[in-house]
Amino acid sequence: MHKVFITRLIPDQGIKLLKKHKNFQVKVSPHDRVLKKAELKKAVRGCDAILSLLTDWIDGEIMDAAGPQLKIIANYAVGFDNIDLKAAKKRGIIVANAPCPEISESVAEHTFALMIALAHRIVEADKFTRAEKYKGWEPLLLLGEDLKGKILGIIGLGRIGQNVARIAVKGFGMKVLYFDVQRNPQFEKEFHARYFPLNSILPRADFLTLHIPLLRITRHLIGPKQFKLMKKTVYLINTSRGPVVDEKALLLALTKKQIAGAALDVYECEPLIDCDLTDNLALKKFFNVILTPHTASATVETRQAMGVMAAKNIIAVLGGKKPLTPAK
Ligand code: GLV
Ligand code: GLV
Repeated sequence: MHKVFITRLIPDQGIKLLKKHKNFQVKVSPHDRVLKKAELKKAVRGCDAILSLLTDWIDGEIMDAAGPQLKIIANYAVGFDNIDLKAAKKRGIIVANAPCPEISESVAEHTFALMIALAHRIVEADKFTRAEKYKGWEPLLLLGEDLKGKILGIIGLGRIGQNVARIAVKGFGMKVLYFDVQRNPQFEKEFHARYFPLNSILPRADFLTLHIPLLRITRHLIGPKQFKLMKKTVYLINTSRGPVVDEKALLLALTKKQIAGAALDVYECEPLIDCDLTDNLALKKFFNVILTPHTASATVETRQAMGVMAAKNIIAVLGGKKPLTPAK
């Protein structure tokens, strides 16, 4: 019997797939919340597989609490910065993520939703209208800007970054500049995209969007120096991981009007929206900032597909095969 523990209830398809296996004993946490460390340690005891969420911090201590039979940690996310990969490797435990095609599409769409909302001032306009401030059409009321012809800087050209580029070029007639650790000549040709080092994209971009994993080298990739290099009219969108942006530097840039605005789905001290609770420079005070609660992948299709992918990774590894999508 293989024991599988799911740290919190996820949409049903992945769970059903796991339960089809007669030699699997599948348990879902009974609490609809993030488990405390002590609870998690107790819950994983004797497990062969853990299906974890990005809100679970899985370190060596948790792995040891599970026991030496633990074979796979399947993260229900694209990112896997919540798992201590080194500790897993040392123990011979496989770590997998869940980069299903659906999630790359959802995050790219959410990125665009934020970008359009910033450019067309959708959130401000909605607040204005609800507040019954609309007294008649005005030529200068809530002027925003169009995406057409604008330069989009994409930092990180993985699956999500490439989907964003496709929508930008094919759908909105934007021009794409990108930075990644790897150049992609085929992509450059297909989307007339140009490659630049990060600090050369910053002074050129009208919109800047981040699609990089959180690693030691990407923490605070966007800091005070980078904000100084940006156009004063740029809009920054972050749907990747909060700590890739130095939030203090972002608040300062917004205060000094070094940038036109920002839209964030992720935060440096998540789930806090502002790291410094005493700081009166709170993000939510800025009318030109749009905030969503880490919901870029929150569509029914994607959350189901992520569960199925995590389940398939577990089924493969417990069946003695390689995972479909090892975390790397
Ligand atoms: C969401 O943030 C994910 O990494 O899937
Ligand atoms: C605006 O409503 C227009 O007709 O131009």
